Amino acid sequence: MKAVIFDRFGGPEVLQVATLPDIHPPGPTQLLVRVLATSVNPLDIQKRRGDYPEAVPLPAVIGSDVSGVVTAVGESVQSFRPGDEVYYTPPLFAPGGYAEHHVIEETVVARKPGGMSHTDSAALPLAGGTAWEALFERACLQPGEKVLVHAAAGGVGSLAVQMAKDAGAVVLATCGGGNIEFVRSLGADHVFDYRTCDFVRAVLDVTEGVDVVLDTVGGETLAQSIEVVRAGGRMVSIVDTPYQLSLLPAYERNLTIHLMFTTLNGNRLARIREMVERQSIRPVIHAVFPIRQAGEAHRLIEAGGIRGKVVLDLSQW
Ligand SMILES: NC(=O)c1ccc[n+]([C@@H]2O[C@H](COP(=O)([O-])OP(=O)(O)OC[C@H]3O[C@@H](n4cnc5c(N)ncnc54)[C@H](OP(=O)(O)O)[C@@H]3O)[C@@H](O)[C@H]2O)c1
Repeated sequence: MKAVIFDRFGGPEVLQVATLPDIHPPGPTQLLVRVLATSVNPLDIQKRRGDYPEAVPLPAVIGSDVSGVVTAVGESVQSFRPGDEVYYTPPLFAPGGYAEHHVIEETVVARKPGGMSHTDSAALPLAGGTAWEALFERACLQPGEKVLVHAAAGGVGSLAVQMAKDAGAVVLATCGGGNIEFVRSLGADHVFDYRTCDFVRAVLDVTEGVDVVLDTVGGETLAQSIEVVRAGGRMVSIVDTPYQLSLLPAYERNLTIHLMFTTLNGNRLARIREMVERQSIRPVIHAVFPIRQAGEAHRLIEAGGIRGKVVLDLSQW
């Protein structure tokens, strides 16, 4: 089968089209999927440049999103059959979606949103699953609560803003100055430019502290965010930047802090599909590249300043 691989760590130029041996048939509880689209996540870039050398054996096939069609199922599979259109996140340190075919456990798969292209649905599983898990499974966000979403123009943030708004929350958000109107258009009630504005002061000017913070930046942003949460509030951080952080202000406020590495769950993706189908959220696609131009897609993301997701189309090689 064809795949985009790398056989050494490095810049976007290490990504190359290769022919790999055919993939093994699905096990009893697995599906074989013809991959039609994937996307680029920060984790793909981190793996490619060698941030996790022990966890990424070479040659490597990356890709943390898959949208495609089931082509075969194992004998114990109950919920899917050949021809089903599905979307999911592969296990984060297993072979991924930059390949023609992929084998996956049925429990992490869901039917993709109806009426949506594969290139659109490939923008959803990792970023959307992460946003959902953080807001609703960890922070247990309630209608009427105030939530601050950092990096709201990014892949996770752009979906988190929409999900929180749909859940009836008041949404505060940070992003780069050029994206303020865009983030407002996603449903945010108050938007702050992280480059020019002290977000702590700005949030405390319009609230007496938020109930929930979703931190998608880490480091100093995580540390400062403690100051904007009301007593008894919750924070979820999804970025493991090394940073010396005093937890005293968090104790003083009786905060609950979740440090989250997302888990995979097909039921969660089914809930996200429902949200998409009732038009409460939509993926934000910055650009779509043919899979053979995966290196260009990585370059674009590394340059920064994008809105939402960069997607890779595997319908043609
Ligand atoms: N733990 C998990 O399970 C998990 C899951 C998914 C993602 N993640 C991590 O979460 C992070 C976000 O992922 P993503 O897919 O949303 O990334 P992304 O699409 O690349 O978005 C990153 C965003 O961060 C913004 N940004 C940079 N510095 C900022 C700051 N100080 N304050 C506010 N915004 C800032 C950027 O804006 P500009 O371009 O305007 O600078 C950009 O919009 C990544 O580090 C990723 O590795 C973790």
